[in-house]
Amino acid sequence: MKSRAPQAHTNETPLIEEVCSTISKFGSALSVEQIHSLLQTLPPHAQELASFERFDDISYCRNRIFRNDLVDLLLLCWKPGQRTPIHDHSGSACGVYIVRGEAIEIGFSPSGVGLLIPTICNRLQQGEITISVDSDAHMVANFAPQEKDLVTLHCYSPPLDSMRIFSEHETFLHDYGTVTLSASTSGYYHVEP
Ligand SMILES: [Fe+2]
Repeated sequence: MKSRAPQAHTNETPLIEEVCSTISKFGSALSVEQIHSLLQTLPPHAQELASFERFDDISYCRNRIFRNDLVDLLLLCWKPGQRTPIHDHSGSACGVYIVRGEAIEIGFSPSGVGLLIPTICNRLQQGEITISVDSDAHMVANFAPQEKDLVTLHCYSPPLDSMRIFSEHETFLHDYGTVTLSASTSGYYHVEP
């Protein structure tokens, strides 16, 4: 699912405080529609997200904004050339809002012989939202020229504590490893490519 968020400014309550309060009231994991709706509330205040921006020369950075048992909200910062491994979401739904820059999302599907093959390529521009669920295998990247950073806001529900990652050379569905993601609220860590 891919759409563009509205640009109206409607509320003077600080973004982060308002969003965290909203998230805290959910009693169960969010549906795709609820994730989409939540992300739509954020764009008018995107400048507030700047305090969470942190980049790294080695890998894209996952900067935590909020986490509880049901939702993990992160700001991801990507320098040109940085990308995720091919991965799925192992039981979690993920909404991505493009705060700044252009994201390339390549979706993979298993062929009849089990080989994962690229089937979708989305160019996501500032203001667009895309949702991935559970076993969707994809890769997200900043393939922009030098100096054009990418900043994306990710909402996972339930939080993504691990994910299957697939080889970039032989992308067979049965050929994957698992990476464990830190549940720390320190707000900053890497996932090595
Ligand atoms: Fe993903």
